[in-house]
Parts: sequence; structure tokens; C-alpha cells
Amino acid sequence: MPDQFNDKQIVAQYAADLVENGMTVGLGTGSTANYFIEALAKRKQQGLEVTTVSSSIVSMVKAQSLDLNVISIEQLQSLDLYVDGADEVTDELYLLKGRGSDLVREKLLATASKQMIVMVDKTKLVDRIGEKFAIPIEVMPFSWQLAKQNIELLGGSGELRANASGDGLAVTSHGSLVLDMQFDVDTDITALDKQLSSVPGVVEHGIFIGLASTVLIAEQGKVEVRSNK
Ligand code: A5P
Repeated sequence: MPDQFNDKQIVAQYAADLVENGMTVGLGTGSTANYFIEALAKRKQQGLEVTTVSSSIVSMVKAQSLDLNVISIEQLQSLDLYVDGADEVTDELYLLKGRGSDLVREKLLATASKQMIVMVDKTKLVDRIGEKFAIPIEVMPFSWQLAKQNIELLGGSGELRANASGDGLAVTSHGSLVLDMQFDVDTDITALDKQLSSVPGVVEHGIFIGLASTVLIAEQGKVEVRSNK
């Protein structure tokens, strides 16, 4: 039987309703973030004053096409809220992100914002980061082999990500390559978070610890709110 509810759309609407007049809001990337952009654009039509900043070119184009005011990260003075999806979420509200193509901007906005709201459906909940997906690690193109060797010393194994058509490599919007790396089940993820950040040639990686303030989880049309204590 087809699913009666579009949980991604429902959770995105819930998040858009939390936006307050005059806020500057960071826009995420992905299908849930797209629903959020649409819901926010509707609220703007109804009179909400909002300024947005985008985590990717794709989201920027979508937001502009719906007449949202988008400023560049360079113009950002302060960010009230960053609203994005995620690929995995644990009980501690640790996130895995980066199945899209712009981890650097995503982590910049997540860190700069006063509050980060994450919108997921129940399928994104996991017991540990890396349970369903490899960890995306953005690397400078000339450094990928040396960076990969160092990541292998940390216990990782994996490959460069292919592009969508499979005939070349995925390249992020500012020209990085992406290593998708898997680690043992018993890897200490908080230690790995710091270790990966200190590998030379690594630009950013997809482990987000201590950044989500609130996670909205949709299941069968209902939204559960989990907040970081
Ligand atoms: C983008 O890089 C990711 O972090 C996304 O937030 C993630 O892929 C969520 O995508 P969906 O909303 O399409 O599931």
C-alpha cells in the first residue's frame, strides 16, 4: 500500500512554522530542505519577513526562483536559524551529513547559527553514525591520495565518490573531491570527528557533533520534537 503521508513535506512545514518574523535563516540541501524552502516561500507570500542564506547553489537557485531574499555567506552578519535535513541521526543528536555536495557551507552555517533545526523522517534514525552510509570526507583534489592514506591509518576504507552519471568523479561546488569512507562498528565517533578534521588535505567531513539544537522526526504524519539538553 502506498504511504499515505509525505513525512518529508510534513516535517518541513512544521519547521517553516517555527520561523519568526525578521529572522535570517540558513537553507539546507536535499529533498526535505526543498520542501522547507517551498513552505518558507509560502509564509513569505503571507507576509513573513525573512532573509535567507543558502548552503548550496541548488538551494540558492530554488529559493530565488520562489522569490525568497537570498544573501551570500560573505554578507552574513548573524544567523538566527539553520534548517536542514540529514542522512543519519543518533539518540545523542549526532548527525551524518554530506550525501549532497556542499559539506563546507553546511557545517559553516550549522556552526554560525544560534539554532540548528534538523528535519528527518523515521528512516534516518540510527544507533551509530556510519550505520547506513559511508562518512563523506571532502578533500582537496591534489591531496586525495595522501589524505586517503592517512584516513586508512585511522581505520577507514573506501573510495572517491563517482558523479551522478557514473562516468567521472563527484566534484563539490567549490572544486573538492569526496572520499566516502567506512569505519569499524566500534569506532569512537567523537574521537574520529576530531581526527578527520586534523588530516592534512581534508577540507570538511560529514560528522556533525553538538551542532543540532532540535531534531524534528516525522513518522506517519506525526512530528516528534527532540531537543539537545
Ligand atoms: C546534504 O549534503 C545532506 O546533508 C542532506 O541533508 C541529506 O542528504 C538529506 O537529504 P534528503 O532530505 O533528500 O533525505
